[in-house]
Amino acid sequence: MNSQTFYIKTYGCQMNERDSEIMAGQLRQMGYQPVNDEKSAELIIVNTCAVRGSAEEHALGYIGQLKQLKDQNPSMRLAVAGCMSQEPGTIAWLKKHAAHVDLVFGTHNLHELPKLLDKVEQSDEMVIDVWKSAGEVVEHLPSQRADGVQAFVNIIYGCDKFCTYCIVPFTRGKERSREIPAIVNEVKALAQEGYQDITVLGQNVNSYGHDLTPAVDLADLLVELEKIDGVRWLRYTTSHPRDFSQKLIDTIAQSQKITHHVHLPVQSGSNPILKRMNRKYTREQYLDLIERVKRAIPDAVLTTDIIVGFPGETEEDFEATMDLVRQVRYDAAFTFLYSPREGTPAARWEGRDPVPNPVKKERLNRLMSLQYQISLEANQQLIGRTELVLIEGLSKKNPNVWAGRTHTNKVVLIDRDPAVDLIDRFVPVRITQAKTFYLTGEVVGAPVSDPSPRRRVELPLV
Ligand code: 5AD
Ligand code: SF4
Repeated sequence: MNSQTFYIKTYGCQMNERDSEIMAGQLRQMGYQPVNDEKSAELIIVNTCAVRGSAEEHALGYIGQLKQLKDQNPSMRLAVAGCMSQEPGTIAWLKKHAAHVDLVFGTHNLHELPKLLDKVEQSDEMVIDVWKSAGEVVEHLPSQRADGVQAFVNIIYGCDKFCTYCIVPFTRGKERSREIPAIVNEVKALAQEGYQDITVLGQNVNSYGHDLTPAVDLADLLVELEKIDGVRWLRYTTSHPRDFSQKLIDTIAQSQKITHHVHLPVQSGSNPILKRMNRKYTREQYLDLIERVKRAIPDAVLTTDIIVGFPGETEEDFEATMDLVRQVRYDAAFTFLYSPREGTPAARWEGRDPVPNPVKKERLNRLMSLQYQISLEANQQLIGRTELVLIEGLSKKNPNVWAGRTHTNKVVLIDRDPAVDLIDRFVPVRITQAKTFYLTGEVVGAPVSDPSPRRRVELPLV
């Protein structure tokens, strides 16, 4: 046992957040204590994201800045983990530009963290241990979850889809599902601890279970999780429209717990672009899916991801995306400039047929203005309605305001009554105002949940 301190900096998606919780759990088991400031940490882990160039630049910039800390405190240890570690280019870059890094490990061997830290102590050089492919799914790893009543649970690792722009199948490997009983046991234990808002995670949760014997699917899993006492809201992310089955739609429609937020990344509204992206669906099939979701779940809140400026995207292709957004009327959209990822097919096409940067940016702006207008109009429809809101904490900008979320993932800001503590409680709230990115509301009744049995601590642990 030791009494050293650690700090984990996490970039990217919820899968990375979850990996950081598992790293933190292993470190806690070794006796390390978390700190919320890198300056006082004896071990810093940078958990990186490779999905777009901008995420990589942020992580590399941060790793560069840490050289100063390492110079001041040479016994401090610095590790680089996550998706960037799986890319050969990163290792070469770190060797050349970041000799102050002590350890590089990847997404497939994070369960070996204790062993890797031992190796660092025995070596004078940068320890690099990155597995090319994943082994068996490892169960029963310790984990240090974030505070509150929300918890994330992995159900499937990796992705077999190979969309031509995407690095994930290379950094996260092939699809591997966890067995239903292992997931059910984890969620039961979480519910007993007081977690009530559970999100099941995977790069493509809709292909969950196809690799198990006998094969099962996401709907089968959600039906089992729904039976667990104490779970109030069940979410799943992220989805692929191609595998989003009618059985899943019907399961969501009939469920009391699966939330009505449906995130369906479309990426583009143009058939030729969808084909070159290898998305395996057409615009018409996607729109048919949206219609079926709307019909079965009339209050569904629909959101999406869209890439602007994929190689060869013409004005006509882009207009098809704008038109699709007008047709679907998403509540929100995450919009991205296409970013070439080394080793992917689209990165090679980018060399031959790029959309010029100013054109990409102008299209992104047009798309964002359209979406913002639709988001505002969708939020305005909610004024006067009473929604159950999970109060997550205080607003970052104003400690006199509570920040919460509806089951459909809409942020709600509420003037705080200092006489009561409603954090981590589910509370009926009347919506009073609508903005593009959030709603405001007032508490109109007693919380429907008891205070969380989980003790809140001052320090965010991960
Ligand atoms: N460039 C831009 N956006 C990308 N995404 C994935 N890869 C890229 C890329 N190379 C976006 C997709 C995906 C989201 C998580 O990130 O929209 O759904
Ligand atoms: Fe990437 Fe496509 Fe897999 Fe999503 S489904 S992780 S975009 S390859």
